Amino acid sequence: MNSTNQPIIQLVDVVKAFGAQMVLDKVSFAVSEGKTTVIAGGSGQGKSVVLKLILGLLAPDSGQILVNGQDICGMRQQDLNQVRMAFGVLFQGAALLDSLSVFDNVALPLEERTKLHAKEIREQVMSMLDKVGLDGHEQKFPAQLSGGMKKRVGLARALMLQPKIVLFDEPTTGLDPEKSMEIYRLFYRTQEQFGYTAVIVSHDIPKIFNLADQVILLNNGKVVSFNNPRDLQGVESVGIEEFLNNTMGTIYRSKELE
Ligand SMILES: Nc1ncnc2c1ncn2[C@@H]1O[C@H](COP(=O)(O)OP(=O)(O)OP(=O)(O)O)[C@@H](O)[C@H]1O
Ligand SMILES: [Mg+2]
Repeated sequence: MNSTNQPIIQLVDVVKAFGAQMVLDKVSFAVSEGKTTVIAGGSGQGKSVVLKLILGLLAPDSGQILVNGQDICGMRQQDLNQVRMAFGVLFQGAALLDSLSVFDNVALPLEERTKLHAKEIREQVMSMLDKVGLDGHEQKFPAQLSGGMKKRVGLARALMLQPKIVLFDEPTTGLDPEKSMEIYRLFYRTQEQFGYTAVIVSHDIPKIFNLADQVILLNNGKVVSFNNPRDLQGVESVGIEEFLNNTMGTIYRSKELE
C-alpha cells in the first residue's frame, strides 16, 4: 500500500457511451496496490474500454479516473505521458510490430525510454525472453510465431521497464489449456518477483480466480465487484445469479455440474 492507503487506480461514477450505446453507466471501483484485479464479463460489455480509459486513450463522458490519486481526465498530454510511464500494457491481440524481430519488439521500451547501452539491453532482453520461455526464438518475426508465443512476447515487452501497474487484456484467449496455465504461472512468478499491481481482463472463468484478489464483473453498463473471488461461486443473491447467468452462464453452470 502507498503511504495514504489510497487505491492506485479508482473509477468514480464513470459514464461512457458511443453514440446511443451506453457502455459504462456510472461505473465505480478501486484497485489496491500490489493486488490482482480481474475484469470479467461477456463480449462487448466494455472490458477493453475500461483499460483504455485507465490509460487515458479514451475519455469518459463524465466521472473521474484517478491514478495514484490524480484525475487523469483533462490532464495535459505531458502529464498524462508521465502517468503512463508507470504502466506495462498487453493489448488484446498482443499488438507486436510485424517488421521487428522478437528481440527488437522486446527491446523497444528500453531503447525508447532508457539510455542503456546495447550490451545491457541485450542482457536484459535475453534474460526476460528466458523467463517467458522464448529463448532461442529472438530472431523470429511475429508472423513466424504461434498465438501463445506472440502473447508471451507481448508480456515480455510489457514487463521490460518493471512497471508499477500492468494491464493485460485477455492474455490467454485462443491458447490451449496447457499454454494458458503457463501464462498464469508466469503471472504468478513475475508478480512475486516485481510486486506489480495487475489488472487482467479475462474470459477464463473460473480458472483465473485463483490469481485474483478482486473480481470486477461488467454487465449492461453496471459493475458488480467481489473482494473474495470465492464469494462468486457460492452466491445466492437472485440479482447476482441472474447477472452471472447472463454474462457467463454456461461456464458457471458447468462448474456446478463437476
Ligand atoms: N472507439 C469506439 N467507437 C465506438 N464504439 C466502440 C469503441 N470502442 C468500443 N466500442 C463499443 O463499446 C462496446 C464495448 O467494447 P469493448 O471493446 O470494451 O468490449 P469487451 O468487453 O472488451 O469485449 P471482448 O470480450 O469482445 O473483447 C462494444 O459494443 C464496442 O463496439
Ligand atoms: Mg476486449
